[in-house]
Amino acid sequence: MVAISETPRLTIQTVEIAPHTIAIRSLDWDRDRFDIEFSLQNGTTYNSYLIQGEETILIDTSHQKFRQLYLETLNNLVDPQTIDYIIVSHTEPDHSGLIEDVLRLAPRATVLASRVAIQFLEGLVHSPFSKRIVKSGDRVNIGKGHEIEFVSAPNLHWPDTIFSFDRKTQILYTCDAFGMHFCDHRTFDEDLEAIETDFRFYYDCLMGPNSRSLLNAMKRMGELGKIKIIASGHGPLLYHNLETLTEYYQNWSQKQTKTENTVGLFYVSGYGYSDQLAHAIGDGLQKTGVGVEIIDFHRDNLTEIQELVTRASGLIVGMPPSYSTVAQAGISCLLAGVKNHQFIGLFESFGSDDQPIDILGRKFTDLGIKEGFTAIRIQEIPGESIYKMCNRAGTNLGRLILEKTSNNQVKSLDLNMEKALGRISSGLYIITAKKGEITDGMMASWVAQASFQPLGFTMALAHDRPINNLLQPGDRFILNVLAEGNYQELKKHFLKRLLPGMDRFAGVKFQPGKNGSPILNEALAYMECEVISRMECSDHGILYCTVEDGKVSQTNGLTAVRHRKVGNYY
Ligand code: FEO
Repeated sequence: MVAISETPRLTIQTVEIAPHTIAIRSLDWDRDRFDIEFSLQNGTTYNSYLIQGEETILIDTSHQKFRQLYLETLNNLVDPQTIDYIIVSHTEPDHSGLIEDVLRLAPRATVLASRVAIQFLEGLVHSPFSKRIVKSGDRVNIGKGHEIEFVSAPNLHWPDTIFSFDRKTQILYTCDAFGMHFCDHRTFDEDLEAIETDFRFYYDCLMGPNSRSLLNAMKRMGELGKIKIIASGHGPLLYHNLETLTEYYQNWSQKQTKTENTVGLFYVSGYGYSDQLAHAIGDGLQKTGVGVEIIDFHRDNLTEIQELVTRASGLIVGMPPSYSTVAQAGISCLLAGVKNHQFIGLFESFGSDDQPIDILGRKFTDLGIKEGFTAIRIQEIPGESIYKMCNRAGTNLGRLILEKTSNNQVKSLDLNMEKALGRISSGLYIITAKKGEITDGMMASWVAQASFQPLGFTMALAHDRPINNLLQPGDRFILNVLAEGNYQELKKHFLKRLLPGMDRFAGVKFQPGKNGSPILNEALAYMECEVISRMECSDHGILYCTVEDGKVSQTNGLTAVRHRKVGNYY
């Protein structure tokens, strides 16, 4: 049974996915941004589930923007007064935003959640409610064969996450894990090609920084026996390609934990804006290919902190509350274990009682530790520009670490192979792109024609380039070709690192193209292009693009060419 009730661009889909089990999917067709720099191409969904044995369980709710639609739908499916349990997989508002409303309608329901989630909920819900803390191995039997077993899965991606497994239907409810921001009427994952890119992008943004936690959770999942469906909180449910997609998670996470360079990110989760800021920094760092491992001072023990400090290339510390003796012990452990080849980055989370950032900064400096980025001091509720700044800070730290590693490698390697690769030469270009209010530009050289019909080319972009957000399949941009003998100024300008708030096009002469992106006045030629597809490979993404229009400004001009000495950097 599939029923769809429509309101403009927010719709609800209810689908029976197994005996006595209904998925209530809130389809948010237009959402184009999620957290920080997580731009979405295909909207998203917030999935909630209803299991009706002899007793009734509701798993998660929806985003507040769906309040009316969701509550009406729930009322049509079940008398809310008969709901016995509400499982809260974690307390992020896109799933728990309607918990208080549902509890009002379902006063006899008992909330089942992890210890941390219950603590958060007590602050979130303004009247007393019945609750029970659950952990790995705990079970609730609601009759008709539906026995629900819980699996603790902390840090996926919030500290309080639990999975729930229905032994009768063999459905595992994972909320954020194994999800994707992809909005479609198809309930399941039958079209692998359509979802693969979003599945990967979501993993990179949300799950990658917690790859160790993910591997632990997957180990516990393996002990549950056969899993037929993974019912996540976002996007289609995994059924047709469950094996392939879980294997992807396994491989990506294993690779992530084996990255040569890892940064330890230490903070207190749930304090001030620490979660959001930590993820923004971690996301920027990961774009460079440097791994991130997250430690919560309040949850992880000193042995884990010591172990990570020993092998990390850099440390990031979110200032904990000054009253926390546990966090203080963790920080002492960092100071005792840090080595002078490591980098340090500090941030304040706009908590009400942060430890002073300057004092800790000086302690690290006195030990000879170099700053990976200037301390981030948040004096206000963070908005997009602050998250961007954090993102860039992470990227800059990643680059510093990589530069250091590659200098060491260059010193120690026989360079014959790298020299040979360096003989591949290429033209010089400026890519410019405009999407909504955001315009960006960058220097590119790895560009090569790839097809005649239609006219197309490929270009390779490092994952850490912010312009990637504007160059997803379907996006349009302009490829400006630089002219031999007249490109140094533009090259210098577009290679400059941009500080937060700076305009990439300040002082550059340009006019808007048909697709809105800037055409540089000094370009030898330009092409209006569309990104058709992307292939993510190691440290770069390869974009196949087609050309829709173009013009040459100087018929006899030649393209500027870059000759390199070695092939292991630009
Ligand atoms: Fe989809 Fe962590 O919320």
